[in-house]
Amino acid sequence: MSIVVVGSINMDLVVRVKRHPVPGETLLGSDYETHHGGKGANQAVAAARMLARPMPTKSASPGPAPGVRMIGRVGQDEFGQQLRNALKREGINVSATLPIAAPTGVAFIAIDEEGQNTIIVSPGANHRLRPEHLSPAEFEEARVVVLQLEIPLETVRRAAELGRQAGAQVILNAAPAQKLPDKLLHHIDILVVNEIEALGLSGVKPDSPEMALEVAQLLAKKVPTVIITLGEQGAVWASPEGQGHQPVPEVEVVDATGAGDAFIGALAAALCEGRPLAQAVAHGCVAGALATTKTGAQSSLPWREEVCARLEL
Ligand code: RIB
Ligand code: NA
Repeated sequence: MSIVVVGSINMDLVVRVKRHPVPGETLLGSDYETHHGGKGANQAVAAARMLARPMPTKSASPGPAPGVRMIGRVGQDEFGQQLRNALKREGINVSATLPIAAPTGVAFIAIDEEGQNTIIVSPGANHRLRPEHLSPAEFEEARVVVLQLEIPLETVRRAAELGRQAGAQVILNAAPAQKLPDKLLHHIDILVVNEIEALGLSGVKPDSPEMALEVAQLLAKKVPTVIITLGEQGAVWASPEGQGHQPVPEVEVVDATGAGDAFIGALAAALCEGRPLAQAVAHGCVAGALATTKTGAQSSLPWREEVCARLEL
């Protein structure tokens, strides 16, 4: 396995609204839709699609995408079964994604007319993934380990430690935003945050790419490489190899859900293939932009060919 993702698996319950409600307010929305989501699962699927080739046609099922392992927990319920099967269909190894006696994680998502979302996550089974459930053998062949913050922080920390021990590059997508102890950051090679998470960690809101570069350099005192994603302004990075700003292609935003996860998955896949950081960030930016053009999280994640076509590779 070359990419190991340890993280959340959620069923997304999505409703469209004209605008987001304020506290105490009731709004009527559209019919609800269910979509496969969870930051961990989305990033695993994004990575698998970026490693997979060739791109499946409508009539053919996606070809196997060897190389991605998902470690997580779902409930022994209908949602859990659907989500685990969806990962399997992407060719992802789910032998360490176990159904347990707890409700499957659910995300309640509202999307406004601009395609911007607000999300409330009920972690359920995801929060039952404990450090002692992780086995070193699951990390043995990892080149890249991908982590987020929808599972217990102790588990994230243990996964980072096991990734390091296996000689993998450890990516932490610090989402959703929360305080990060130094003993976790210590095991991280690449920290990826959006503007809001960067504000939470640094106290400074990166309003422009220039400002974001300054914030990235500030955060890079704790983690060797820091990437800040800036939505339609692209992403900036600061690393021992240098720093830079990558713009994104202009697209029509339908639903931004999953865009950040597409970025991470594409970044991980590119790094796993040995590409330099600047190129990996470019892959991430294109994948993220493409994911905003379709509804849903996993349903909007692009395949390698779509991303490469945009990059003119
Ligand atoms: O990043 C998007 C994801 O965040 C959604 O799929 C939802 O499940 C939440 O985890
Ligand atoms: Na989307």
